[in-house]
Amino acid sequence: MARHIVARTSDIPAGGNKVFGLEGRDVVVFHVNGEFFALLNRCPHEGAPLEKAACVARLTSPEPGIYQRDRVGEMLRCPWHGWEFDMRNGQSWFDPNRFKIRSYPVAVESGEELQKGPYVAETFPVHIEDNYIIVDV
Ligand code: FES
Repeated sequence: MARHIVARTSDIPAGGNKVFGLEGRDVVVFHVNGEFFALLNRCPHEGAPLEKAACVARLTSPEPGIYQRDRVGEMLRCPWHGWEFDMRNGQSWFDPNRFKIRSYPVAVESGEELQKGPYVAETFPVHIEDNYIIVDV
């Protein structure tokens, strides 16, 4: 794994992102809530550029009709089909194999027990040293 100095922290404004070509791959670095996250700039579904994704909050619901927003800006909503990925680990919680119109048995489980989606966006470790953003690829 090689380390790449990609920018000064001041080069990527809060809420913004920047794409870097690293070892033949486009990696997008996001600046969210004072932290930096690096992902492959390609949606694992059909390849949309994640630099165009909306940075949205995570929504959870403790019961019907009640929802809460947290981790504002840390979820990526793909610009092509709206699938969402956790910026910290690239995980999608969307499962297309269950997206069919037919009846299913119903059970009540907590959100933590639900199955993760099969798609995961590739992420890379990011470090800050002397105000430089370092990405390990
Ligand atoms: S290409 Fe990203 S959700 Fe389809």
